[in-house]
Amino acid sequence: MLIDTHAHVNFNAFKNDGEEVIKRALADNVWLVNVGSQYSTSARAVKIAQQRERGVYAAIGMHPIHLGSEKFQTSVDKNEEVEFETREEEFSREKYEALISHPKTVAVGEIGLDYYHNISNKEQQKKLFLEQINLAAEHQKPIIVHCRDAHNDVLEILEEKQKEYGNRLRGVVHSFSGRLAQAERYVKLGFYLGFNGIITFARDYDKVISNVDLGNLLTETDCPYLTPVPFRGKRNEPLYVKYVVEKLAEIKNLPVEKISEATFENARELFNI
Ligand code: NI
Repeated sequence: MLIDTHAHVNFNAFKNDGEEVIKRALADNVWLVNVGSQYSTSARAVKIAQQRERGVYAAIGMHPIHLGSEKFQTSVDKNEEVEFETREEEFSREKYEALISHPKTVAVGEIGLDYYHNISNKEQQKKLFLEQINLAAEHQKPIIVHCRDAHNDVLEILEEKQKEYGNRLRGVVHSFSGRLAQAERYVKLGFYLGFNGIITFARDYDKVISNVDLGNLLTETDCPYLTPVPFRGKRNEPLYVKYVVEKLAEIKNLPVEKISEATFENARELFNI
């Protein structure tokens, strides 16, 4: 069994064939967590999860880029330039609370800080992050953290908040993009690090992956984005998480079986599934 702990089959990129994409994944023993980025995509993630007895779960939350309405251009490399537009949202605790109580909701996310896309509203981003950390801890749910160019601030917040909540504050730093020293601070907090297709075409995280215990790693795709080799240039999907598992095995010099078993168990433990 494999698990894609960060998928967005709830996004418009899968509007026409999301059902087929999920069927393909489940038929190949790949479970998934669809992650929300604002209220509408969070609600859709819950709705999709409701349709299956097991194997498909939801995370609900408001990503910091939805603090404003903007057009962004993000580029991973020449094979992937993504343009997207965000719709501004005002965070409503009541609305997210209604989603969090659904039995298939396994986490609050994706939430966090993104200074890469917008550095002008740091304080607003921190406030939004804190509100959702509180929401998660009060409902005993882990968090899925999005962090771009902001690891020191994220770490400071988590270290501070863990003094208050202890091990009720748990989670994963998805698409980990920090250095080894930062990885070690997350691990010390009991957090997991999520890796995706980036590791199949960039060598930046080999050192982190080699040094961090397998017990702290999670696998993800972040589909429709970050498609792994050999499908660069095409839309990503949960099925392709196997290429991430294979690469982790190669970097850690362990059998693929061992990586899939451990990362699957890690996810079940964190998300209580
Ligand atoms: Ni994402």
